[in-house]
Amino acid sequence: MLSEERNRRLTEVGPGTPMGSLLRRYWQPIAAVAELDDAPTKPVRLFGEDLVLYKDLSGGYGLLERHCPHRSADLSYGIVEECGLRCNYHGWMFDATGACREQPFEDTDAPEIRFRDQIRIRAYRVEAKAGLLWAYLGPEPAPLVPNWEPFTWGNGFVQIVFATVPCNWLQCQENSIDPVHFEWMHDNWGRRLNGHNGPYAPRHLKLAFDEFEYGLVYRRVREDSDETSQLWTVGRVCLWPNALFTGNHFEWRVPIDDTNTLSVGWFFTRVPKDREPYVQNSIPYWYSPIIDEKTGRWITSHIMNQDFIGWVGQGAVTDRQREHLGRSDRGIIMMRQRFFRDLDTVAAGGEPKAIVRDPDVNRCIELPIIGRRHFVEGLTREEIESGRESPGIAPRRTFPFLVGQPEPVRRAYDEAMGFAT
Ligand code: FES
Ligand SMILES: [Fe+2]
Repeated sequence: MLSEERNRRLTEVGPGTPMGSLLRRYWQPIAAVAELDDAPTKPVRLFGEDLVLYKDLSGGYGLLERHCPHRSADLSYGIVEECGLRCNYHGWMFDATGACREQPFEDTDAPEIRFRDQIRIRAYRVEAKAGLLWAYLGPEPAPLVPNWEPFTWGNGFVQIVFATVPCNWLQCQENSIDPVHFEWMHDNWGRRLNGHNGPYAPRHLKLAFDEFEYGLVYRRVREDSDETSQLWTVGRVCLWPNALFTGNHFEWRVPIDDTNTLSVGWFFTRVPKDREPYVQNSIPYWYSPIIDEKTGRWITSHIMNQDFIGWVGQGAVTDRQREHLGRSDRGIIMMRQRFFRDLDTVAAGGEPKAIVRDPDVNRCIELPIIGRRHFVEGLTREEIESGRESPGIAPRRTFPFLVGQPEPVRRAYDEAMGFAT
C-alpha cells in the first residue's frame, strides 16, 4: 500500500515532476528508424510534452517542440529541409539544436535586425540504434544509448511493434517483475479463452528477486521444473528503469503522459542454421490495435494484449492505497523502494541506477539470458522441428505477442526462417 502522496511521486511524469525528471535521464525509444523513412515527421507526446520527431534531407534526426514559436502552427505538418524542419505556415526553419535558421519574410524585409537570433525552440537529442529512434530529454551531458547484448547479435529477424496503452507507465512496469501472472493471465486464462476447460497450468512453487547492475531479476520454480532450470538459475529481467527483457525480446513502457504509455516491443528471432547468413536490410515496424472494433472490448488473443488488460484494468492511475501486496509482490516492493532511493539520489544531485557512460562497457552489455547459446549460435532445422526446445527458444510459426502483424512482415519472417508460406 502506498499513500496518495507517495503514489503520485512514483507515477506522475509531467514536466518538473520528480519521476518525470528521473526517467528523462534515460534514453527512451520513441519510433522506428523505418517509420521516418516512410514519413519524415512524426508527432510524439513524451512525458506530457508535445513534440515532433523528424528526419531531414541530409539524414539527420531532430526532436522539437510541436508548436512553432511564431504563431503556434503544428510542426508535425512541417517541411523537412537539407538541415532542419520548416514550418508550413510562414516558412520559419529550425535546426536540430532548436536554433531558428530562417525567417523568409523577416530575412528579406529587414535582414539587419536578425530577428531569428532571438528565437529558439525546445530541442532534444535523437539517436538511432537497433532499428529504433531514441530520445534523450534529460540534463547534459547525455549518457550513451545502451548497447544491450541482443542488439549485437547477427542472423536474426527483428521486428518492432508499438501499441498505445491508456494507463500510467508504472502499472505497466510493475508487470515486468510479476512472475505469477504468467501462470494465470497467460497460461490459465489463455487456455480458457481458447475453449479448454482442462487442468490448470503448473503452479509457481518458489520465487526469488535479486537486484543487479541493470535492473532486477526474477527467478522461479514451477511444479514442472526445479532448481536446475534456467528459469531459476538465470531468471528474467526487469530492465531499469522501464522495460522488461525476456532473453530475445524487450518491452519498453514509455510514458506519454500520466495516463498513457507507449508500449515499444523489440523482438529478435534467430534464423535456423540452414538460413545463414541472414542479413536484415531494414527492420520492420507496426502498430498493434488494442480494442476489438466489434465489441468495444480489449483484444484478448495475444500475450501482450492480455498484459494490457491487466494494466488498464487497474485504472488510469491505479490507487495503490487499496492494494494488498502479498509474498508474490516482493519484487514490486523492491522496485518501488529502488525508485524512491533514485528519486532521492537525483534530488541530491547524484546519478541514478543503470546510466551507461563508459564506451568500453557499452560495446556490448550482457544481460541474464535463458538459452543464450541458441540465440547466438542458432538451431538446426531438425532441432526446431523436434519441438524439444522450450517456447521462446525455437522460432515460432506465428507471432504470439501482439495482434495485427501485417502480411508483408509475416511473409518476410517466414522467408527469413525458411518456413513454407
Ligand atoms: S506559425 Fe510557423 S512560421 Fe508562422
Ligand atoms: Fe505478461
